[in-house]
Amino acid sequence: MIHRKDLILNALGIARWRIKPFATEAAVESQALINPADGEILKTSSASLLTQLKPVELDILEKENILVSEALNWTDLQQRVTACTRCNLCNSRTQTVFEAGIRQARCLVVGEAPGAEEDAYGEPFVGQAGKLLDNMLASVGLSRQKNVYICNVLKCRPPGNRNPTPIEVQQCSAYLMGQIELVSPDVLLLMGRFAAQSLLNTEASLSHLRGRVHTVKIGKRDINAIVSYHPAYLLRNLPEKLKSWADLLLAKQLLNGSE
Ligand code: URA
Repeated sequence: MIHRKDLILNALGIARWRIKPFATEAAVESQALINPADGEILKTSSASLLTQLKPVELDILEKENILVSEALNWTDLQQRVTACTRCNLCNSRTQTVFEAGIRQARCLVVGEAPGAEEDAYGEPFVGQAGKLLDNMLASVGLSRQKNVYICNVLKCRPPGNRNPTPIEVQQCSAYLMGQIELVSPDVLLLMGRFAAQSLLNTEASLSHLRGRVHTVKIGKRDINAIVSYHPAYLLRNLPEKLKSWADLLLAKQLLNGSE
């Protein structure tokens, strides 16, 4: 059934996001599934998230995500993030971490989640990984001061820098979609497994996904996306830097080609 609200949003050219199942069974592996209502650990499993949620929980998730998609301006979106209590990360965060860089940028970098320094400072990628990211971007003429927008899959720090859970990714995804739609970049640079797998809706490994051009449909646009290793991973695996450099060159090539 088509609702009146859908017709109005359609006429305004505003897309309603229906968040697809977070498809990464690998990502769920040996992680606890947290009940969003009370933080109770439901089970630890390698089965896909959606097969474990009851229909009523799915319905709530979908409705909440749709609500956010209707707030398509920066002030509203940022206020919603600041006040967000959708998952339990709101209890442990110092503050939400929304963005860094230029809102009109043609290149948008998506990382994973704030760490301790980002949580304290309120800006993405300000720690060691951030320094490496800035250096990598600078090597291809990009910077958060001039021509790049930076945000994360999660807006709140997972305690102890643990991996995001599938439900946290899903609860936060409408905010990320909002940021991408508002920036409307020409190229997305997806850094790390969580950014790549959630935006490309795949379970494939990073090594399989990097080195080629993907497209992500955001609103009415198909946006080119390049996958690369997360800077924190590169800090521990220096030899992979060469591959990341190749990924950045590919992103730069796309940016040059779409000028
Ligand atoms: N790692 C991320 O993915 N994002 C940050 O903001 C910091 C570290």
